[in-house]
Amino acid sequence: HTARPVALRAAAISFRGNPFLAPADECFTYEPDALLVMESGRITAFGPHDRLRPTLPEGMEVRAFPDSILCAGFIDTHVHYPQTEMVGSFAGDLLEWLETATFPTEQKFADPVHAARIAKLFLRELLKAGTTTAMVYCTVHPQSVEAFFAESARFDTLMIAGKVLMDRHAPPTLLDKSVTESIDQSEALIARWHGKGRQLYAVTPRFAGSCTEAQLEAAGHLLDRHEGLFLQTHLAESLREVDWIEGLFPQRADYLDIYAHAGLVRPRAVFGHGVHLRERHFCACHETGAALAHCPTSNLFLGSGLFRLFEAMEPRRPVRVGLGTDIGAGTSFSPLATMGGAYKVAALSGHKLDALRAFYLATLGSAHALHLDHRLGQLAPGYDADVCVLDLKATDLLALRTGRSDDIADQLFALMTLGDDRAITATYVAGRCVYDRSRAGNPFRA
Ligand code: GUN
Ligand code: ZN
Repeated sequence: HTARPVALRAAAISFRGNPFLAPADECFTYEPDALLVMESGRITAFGPHDRLRPTLPEGMEVRAFPDSILCAGFIDTHVHYPQTEMVGSFAGDLLEWLETATFPTEQKFADPVHAARIAKLFLRELLKAGTTTAMVYCTVHPQSVEAFFAESARFDTLMIAGKVLMDRHAPPTLLDKSVTESIDQSEALIARWHGKGRQLYAVTPRFAGSCTEAQLEAAGHLLDRHEGLFLQTHLAESLREVDWIEGLFPQRADYLDIYAHAGLVRPRAVFGHGVHLRERHFCACHETGAALAHCPTSNLFLGSGLFRLFEAMEPRRPVRVGLGTDIGAGTSFSPLATMGGAYKVAALSGHKLDALRAFYLATLGSAHALHLDHRLGQLAPGYDADVCVLDLKATDLLALRTGRSDDIADQLFALMTLGDDRAITATYVAGRCVYDRSRAGNPFRA
């Protein structure tokens, strides 16, 4: 990041509380004419333009965005970068889709040149969509992790990623040769990347269907050996998957118990999907600080089921829930489109997901799911300066729709219903403009 301060002027929205647990107006700040000042990678000031403007150094440039809303950079808590090229692959249910579409695609990441090419495309899709932090699955190949972190380090994005662990039920070329080798490879990547700049490592057993019990237990021990590691895996995504996996582990009470037994249900653990969970599972997540990644467009695409968001967020034992695109089973990189998907999934389960709750999920809620809410997810002094600029007039239809009222909740709802990467004007990472739609030629700047 640069030391030079940057100031932005636009309307702004930021959350400080969870609107699933408290009245919405206590949970967010809306500033119709805000000034946001960033320096050395952090937000140094945020508030009404008229109050803050006189405090700026003489002659400092202020970039104004009319018809726009500043928002904390979006956080995607579940996404597979190697699946970028296979979004929208026609297949059967989850297990068939894995076999026919996913595994052949991931085999290509044995080639580091391919990995570097896709990592580059993937990171640009995130920035275009307004996403500044993501929790990312690589493949089983260590070089896929190397390629991803190298690309993220160029932009100084805060990314959490790891080598997939899998030692059964996949084509032989995609399997770890031994538990020991897979853990040694993970250790080497942790030494190279965990805590280097803004990069963080996630131990990544793909799911209980592709890991032996020995590998899951080794993953648990690996988590104990290093400070601040994350854990990501899949949980209770489809009914057929749940049946199959519970059959593989007859000695365990249920799917979540397989992970609990291996010591994986803990703070900074993020379980993808959690569609088919019961009350006792929500209680276990609440008590342990483990999180669920809600991936609505993926669940709709694969027909996996309807995530019970409002049950998960039940105020007497709220679960940490983040939003995930789950590219390539998910169908959009855009957190706006993902919020729109979450609205539809909730509606099909008899609930209405309003825009304030949806935007909370994509920002501070996801930061909370990752236990990073002390530095990500808010526009506030001291927070990391990761910001996206939303364009209320991005399309003719959005201009028509958002022009009807000044109500922020209504405008945000229009954005999550109609918006996608076209609605992102610019993305700032660690205080620097890394994506600017209006920059001719190459809108990206590493
Ligand atoms: N379960 C195990 N692997 C995967 C994957 O790559 N995508 C999804 N959606 N579910 C999985
Ligand atoms: Zn996934």
